[in-house]
Amino acid sequence: MVEEEVTIENLPGVGPATAEKLRDAGFDDILAIAVASPRELADAAEIGESTAAKIIIAARKMADVGDFETGDVIFERRSRLGHLTTGSKSLDQLLGGGLETQAITEFFGEFGSGKTQIAHQLCVNVQLPEEKGGLDGHAFYIDTENTFRPERITQMAKAMGLDPKETLKKIHVARAFNSSHQMLLVEKVKELSKEVPAKLLIVDSLTAHFRAEYVGRGALADRQQKLNKHMHDLLRWSDLNDGVVCVTNQVSAKPDALFGDPTRPIGGHIVGHTATFRVYLRKSRGDKRIARLIDSPHLPEGEVVFSITKEGIRD
Ligand code: GTP
Ligand code: MG
Repeated sequence: MVEEEVTIENLPGVGPATAEKLRDAGFDDILAIAVASPRELADAAEIGESTAAKIIIAARKMADVGDFETGDVIFERRSRLGHLTTGSKSLDQLLGGGLETQAITEFFGEFGSGKTQIAHQLCVNVQLPEEKGGLDGHAFYIDTENTFRPERITQMAKAMGLDPKETLKKIHVARAFNSSHQMLLVEKVKELSKEVPAKLLIVDSLTAHFRAEYVGRGALADRQQKLNKHMHDLLRWSDLNDGVVCVTNQVSAKPDALFGDPTRPIGGHIVGHTATFRVYLRKSRGDKRIARLIDSPHLPEGEVVFSITKEGIRD
């Protein structure tokens, strides 16, 4: 598909300096500007609100807003959905056959509940052929807590009968130093996905930087808005590439007055509405973990047990 590239510089009133500021704030295409509010845009580009409003009107005229589709077309597309195995049959079953493509799956739970271990396992499994539960593709890993461990990948790859070195070569890892950087890395992934046949995008952790940076009541609305945009960027990647997006979210297992039910985490709300599948993880005895599916649109809620072994995620 060859499309003539319309960039934000094509908008009247957007010079190179304004364009740069807009891009830095995540307004990197016409559509993003078309759906922005004048206030948001004015803040991002350090321009007046009336100028911002004019730019938005121009963007709306230029934007490719997309068309309505009939149900049968959507049905056809959904029938092509792929699934990625976790390595545990019961966990796969809970998810309706593994992690779905064209969707975001969120694993949330307390420290040590297995979120990062699952993320590692998926990076290996995505490389398997489809008949073995893989998607025959590469993985992108946005690492915000510096917990990606190639040694662990090596162990898991060997256990799957894959060559560890070749496996590591198909996992593309970047550290995210703050939440803005994290969001920019998704743009980079979009670009790189034109050359790399990627089928998996991990963000581990989705929320850590946002929690650390947006502190206090006053910052809450901003944080949710940014997180919301981030989630939509991720969802768009999964659609465009028929890929799996997997994000992690740490929550406290100790319910208290502030947090209440741990399966209803703060900050988790906005994530919850955008994530297609939400899995709550908690520790059990030894290497056993319990997974519970929450708020799924078309799967029954349920709980399963899996293990974190030397070989990786297993039943
Ligand atoms: P936070 O990032 O701190 O929120 O935790 P997390 O949910 O990402 O936890 P993680 O996935 O890092 O799980 C850590 C746990 O996995 C450890 O406590 C171990 O029980 C287990 N684990 C990690 N590596 C190995 C390993 O090589 N072998 C085995 N058997 N278990 C491991
Ligand atoms: Mg972790």
